[in-house]
Amino acid sequence: MNDDKNTNQDGSGWAYSDKVKEHFFDPKNLLKEDPSVYKADGVGYVGSPACGDMMKMWIKVDPITDTIAECKWRTFGCASAIASTSVLSEMVTENGGMEIDKALRIRPQDIVDRLSGLPDRKIHCSVLGDKALRAALNDYFRKSKQEHRIIKDEAKVVCRCLDVTDHDIEDAVLEGKLTYEEVQQKTKCGTACGACKPRVAKLIEQYKLQYFGE
Ligand code: FES
Repeated sequence: MNDDKNTNQDGSGWAYSDKVKEHFFDPKNLLKEDPSVYKADGVGYVGSPACGDMMKMWIKVDPITDTIAECKWRTFGCASAIASTSVLSEMVTENGGMEIDKALRIRPQDIVDRLSGLPDRKIHCSVLGDKALRAALNDYFRKSKQEHRIIKDEAKVVCRCLDVTDHDIEDAVLEGKLTYEEVQQKTKCGTACGACKPRVAKLIEQYKLQYFGE
């Protein structure tokens, strides 16, 4: 959750950390070239229905060391999405490039920690870059005939009555709906037979731990 040092002096609101400001005002690894001439090994694109943000990422891979040699991106996103992706692109390319398997283990919390915190309601913006990187890596795996490495993340229906999936629950938690009642209000899960309640409650706890570390 939030770091108290990032709240305003009267305890209200939230001030962005110096690290967030640094990456927002001077984002690293933005794609400046024309995308049609930039020769990427993998391209990923994601959008967040929650905030209307969009993120596109281009990666180059060193096939000998299986490391990420370049990670470029562009976004129509907010300050948090820009700062988070800037930091992520730095993390996966610094020191000669990160091994792909290691890059796939980066958690949103690792990015938030490196930014010295983000407001909770902005956590969902921080996962945009992470999702775009996974999409770009999947594209690279497909193009380089490494289908066995493709990360499958298909939505699974959790509430059969209302057709609510685990991805819907995840999005709700990322938007800051942290209790069963709040998630139910947003997704309508559990409002018919109620049989899905234990599974939904478990997923809420899982995503809270994953994204907020609690
Ligand atoms: S399975 Fe969710 S309300 Fe019936």
